[in-house]
Amino acid sequence: MKDTPITGPEHVAIIMDGNGRWATARGRPRLFGHQAGAKRVRQIAEVCPKLGVKYLTVFAFSTENWKRTQDEVAGLMSLFKRYIQSETRELIARGARVRFIGDRVRLDPGLVELMGQLERLTEGNDGLHLTVALNYGGRDELVRASKRLARDVAAGRLDVDTVDEETQASYLDTGDLPDPDLVIRTSGEARISNFLLWQSAYSEYEFVDTLWPDFTPEIFAGIVRNFAARERRFGAVKA
Ligand code: FPP
Repeated sequence: MKDTPITGPEHVAIIMDGNGRWATARGRPRLFGHQAGAKRVRQIAEVCPKLGVKYLTVFAFSTENWKRTQDEVAGLMSLFKRYIQSETRELIARGARVRFIGDRVRLDPGLVELMGQLERLTEGNDGLHLTVALNYGGRDELVRASKRLARDVAAGRLDVDTVDEETQASYLDTGDLPDPDLVIRTSGEARISNFLLWQSAYSEYEFVDTLWPDFTPEIFAGIVRNFAARERRFGAVKA
């Protein structure tokens, strides 16, 4: 009998935490930490194909993050705009496919336009599938999905008796994405903070103390390789 090959994670999702503390420790404004964090996103995305990671999903802004100061929120929003503008060419050149998940209704129309444009420009690509969660909350996503599903039932487009897990999943923002195999959270907090609640039901979790701006591709590679050694059973008994 052949051994089942040990494979690495195909889809890694990351809760990028610790930018604020990283900046404060350096006597700098919190936005300085977010800028350093944005540079890490690029480095981690770059190393994914070499590690066999096909899907990378990053938590950039949560539905709870609006509670931060107006200055920090505005700074983050303009950082997202600049980031999309400065990275578009490189993402296309590398054949990346970019998606955004989360509720766009509350976002600045200029930012929403850039997001849509980047999605359209990369939709035929099949290199790294990079998904950015922006104004995303797992519960909010489930509520929005339930409303759409209920409307389809009410309009006669969907038979309620046929609704199963696959149907429910298809109504989520991540409808055409596989579930994450591995979820990493940086900065020492061991919480999932409303990230990919449905999708991470069977994911492995890795909580690391490193603050996001210090999270190097080498640390990432170590975690990804380590994952391959773990046993995933999805509730079944080992053969
Ligand atoms: C958490 O650190 C980080 C955020 C809320 C924002 C994440 C944003 C980036 C990494 C920058 C850009 C991302 C993209 C995709 C361009 P925190 O502020 O909660 O840190 P703290 O817990 O130390 O306060």
